[in-house]
Amino acid sequence: MTSGSLWATLENSSLGSTIAGNEWMFPTIETIHVIAIVTVIGAIAVMDLRLLGLTSGTKSVAAMERDTLPVTWVAFAVAVISGLLLFVSKAQSYMANPYFLWKTALMALAGVNMAVFHRYFSKDVASWGVPGGAIPINAKLSATLSLALWMAIPFCGRVIGFTLGTYYAG
Ligand code: HEM
Repeated sequence: MTSGSLWATLENSSLGSTIAGNEWMFPTIETIHVIAIVTVIGAIAVMDLRLLGLTSGTKSVAAMERDTLPVTWVAFAVAVISGLLLFVSKAQSYMANPYFLWKTALMALAGVNMAVFHRYFSKDVASWGVPGGAIPINAKLSATLSLALWMAIPFCGRVIGFTLGTYYAG
């Protein structure tokens, strides 16, 4: 099966055609997608701004991580499920759309950045942001990259809908 026919099979599946063919399903799922993604980006931005020392200076980084990470992961799970449902409904169009491909690549990069941060940079997080506990430069650089990526991802996401017809004639 070629990748092209895989996207066609997904799009023509009963799930794909049901979502695409129903007046309310796609906008309802996209609304859920938007609510989930603003929650993901909001929770990540709160953490990144703390790491950069720009907000919440009275609260330790570890305490803020405990508060925000569960919200981030639950919202991300909802964003992925709703995003995949949107994707299935027009899979061929999305796979022909450079903004969708860029968005996916940027999300992968944001995931790598987060994994490297948690795996290598945050060993001493308990001492960050408490009196006398400075936040290391590599953590600040990771936070800066994270903020930039989580601004670029929704930009690409937003442009997808405006450019679907440009890249895929269908
Ligand atoms: C947390 C990560 C994500 C963010 C920040 C994000 C961001 C966005 C944004 C801003 C939009 C435009 C919404 C609108 O115009 O109303 C969008 C649409 C979309 N997203 Fe995501 N998204 C994320 C995850 C995903 C995932 C994992 C997929 C799965 C493949 C996905 C697939 C889509 C699709 C298919 C659309 C619809 C484009 C359209 O036809 O308008 N997204 N996303």
